[in-house]
Amino acid sequence: METRYETILEEDLDSQRAQAVLKDAGAIIKRGGLVAFPTETVYGLGADALQEEACRKIYEAKGRPSDNPLIVHIGKWEDIYPITRELPEQAKVLADAFWPGPLTMILKKSDLVPMRTTGGLDTVAVRMPSHKVARDFILQSGGYIAAPSANRSGRPSPTLARYVQEDMDGRIEMIIDGGQVGIGLESTIVDLTEGNPVILRPGYITREMLEEVLGNVDVDKTILDGNSKQAPKAPGMKYRHYAPKADLTIVAGEEDKVVATINARTKEAQREGKKVGIISTDHTRKRYVGDSVKNAGSRENEETIARELFRILREFDDENVDVIYSESFDENGIGQAIMNRLLKAAGHHIEYI
Ligand code: TXA
Ligand code: MG
Repeated sequence: METRYETILEEDLDSQRAQAVLKDAGAIIKRGGLVAFPTETVYGLGADALQEEACRKIYEAKGRPSDNPLIVHIGKWEDIYPITRELPEQAKVLADAFWPGPLTMILKKSDLVPMRTTGGLDTVAVRMPSHKVARDFILQSGGYIAAPSANRSGRPSPTLARYVQEDMDGRIEMIIDGGQVGIGLESTIVDLTEGNPVILRPGYITREMLEEVLGNVDVDKTILDGNSKQAPKAPGMKYRHYAPKADLTIVAGEEDKVVATINARTKEAQREGKKVGIISTDHTRKRYVGDSVKNAGSRENEETIARELFRILREFDDENVDVIYSESFDENGIGQAIMNRLLKAAGHHIEYI
């Protein structure tokens, strides 16, 4: 299959050309095809959420296990009613506060949503993205877009359309390039089906932000604890994700010691003929001796780190580094989401010094 590639930036959305492209994209979705599109978090791989056969194609294109359910994206609030069986007050409170935006809610599903979409569960994940191209695309496509991140299963979620193309070229009908995404980590997932709200995946909307509008919110224990024997409630969280080809180790501790330790390990690895990648920050980047030192961003503004993390992991793959050392991040605010993804990428290999 030849994949059509089109660029639509948010600021050009109203142009005739952009609208014509979105109309074509909507037609592809309605006849059961796949279109990748930008959102504020990461690129999504979209299909009609209400067509079983279309959703099956998503699993095939990604190489994704079929028990891993998809998020249904909507473009306007009213569209939530037909796909849910019960709508708790908390869902309305959260939608008022955070939609459109990087928040996904788990709710009881109605019969309209096929089991293929929800991986056999009787709940459905729903999100209304804030990216204008995404919302317009959803509305032009019939209103319900099932979309996982647009990467091949196991690879980092794409933050640029170029990465979607790398993973999906020839497998899907269209890629809409909306430029670099704003957030860079997937949405926060909150389960509202079992009484007290529980965070199943941390993201840009933090526990603190949720608690401000909901009161007490729990966090699924498996999120940061690599040794937990419990199965994560979001099936997707149990898979090894984002794993770069190289072995990644996180080094945590006081800054000077972290720099000294990473540099010592780097020299050792280089003596063995290995190529070393390092994930540094604004402050420290000039102090490292690795073959490929990447600056993730500023510790004073961790949103910059969230935005760059997946790009950096992909670049290390392209550069064929053999080992990667990364600094560690505080688990407050967005730091919890950053550490969750980094720990997964490292197979929970972290050294405290
Ligand atoms: O930011 C995002 O959420 C992106 C963009 C494209 O919107 N999408 C995304 O989708 O990250 P995906 O498929 O890569 O991750 C969806 C996660 C998986 O871990 C899945 O197991 C979980 O959501 N999930 C989906 N439906 C669920 C359900 N009914 N109950 C529990 N977890 C669910
Ligand atoms: Mg994903």
